[in-house]
Amino acid sequence: MAGILAPMSDTRPIGVFDSGVGGLTVLQQLHARLPAERLIYLADLAHFPYGPRYQHEVREFALRIIDHLIGLDTKLVVLACNTASAAALNAARERFDVPIVGVIAPGAQAAVEATANGRIAVISTEGTRASQEYVHAIKEANPGVGVLGVAVPELVDIVEAGAAESPHAAAILATVLDEIAGWGADTLVLGCTHYPLLRPTIDRVLDGRPLTVVDSAQTTATRVARILVVNRIGASGTAALPPELLVTAAPRRFSETAELLFGDHLPEPTVVGLWDAAATGVAR
Ligand code: DGL
Repeated sequence: MAGILAPMSDTRPIGVFDSGVGGLTVLQQLHARLPAERLIYLADLAHFPYGPRYQHEVREFALRIIDHLIGLDTKLVVLACNTASAAALNAARERFDVPIVGVIAPGAQAAVEATANGRIAVISTEGTRASQEYVHAIKEANPGVGVLGVAVPELVDIVEAGAAESPHAAAILATVLDEIAGWGADTLVLGCTHYPLLRPTIDRVLDGRPLTVVDSAQTTATRVARILVVNRIGASGTAALPPELLVTAAPRRFSETAELLFGDHLPEPTVVGLWDAAATGVAR
């Protein structure tokens, strides 16, 4: 006699990666939304920053990292980095069978839903801007929307240095937000996973001026949740598991910045030898 089958719980981990601490904004949202999921976060500090690098170089790093995460039996991988999503998402989906989620399409979709006047600005690294992937993703969702892409690479270093709320960050943002306002955008996409950490400074600089700010951390977590359901690969339960943290270099720097930004709730990172740290010249 056929009984009612209980839904299977897939306890394999989800892999999440970025060049540095920025992707922790996505990890946080995943953790909040999907507390029963095991999360493994990998920061490629051996090659940080990705933004100024050639696309083919970033693609090579990303494919190596995804391969490593899949070797850890991950059931889904999140490219929690816009620059890596722009450079490697298509290639990764061609090469690997596990579901791979990027951060650009979820942010683009959310922005199209948010704009009232059809003018969306996107701030990002130079690599993401040059790839034009936000233009494609936004116009795929609605070709009638105008897009202004602005590269603000210096903000990545500022965030990674733990100075997201500094006067220097505020001065750079004031210039960028003026340009965006002059162009007439009513919606701003934070097209770099480091940028949500600038949110308090952005709000301070805006000082009440209306601008809908969209970040892809939340929207990506929503998409991941849906993909787990549709493919029946979610873990059941509610136990909040601590994430496992991996870095390709500089674990001390990672811990210091992560602690500064997120408090001391994160475990110590483990160094994975995907590349020879000495050869990259990165200080620990
Ligand atoms: N957090 C990454 C992104 O979303 C980029 C930072 C970097 O330049 O490495 O694009």
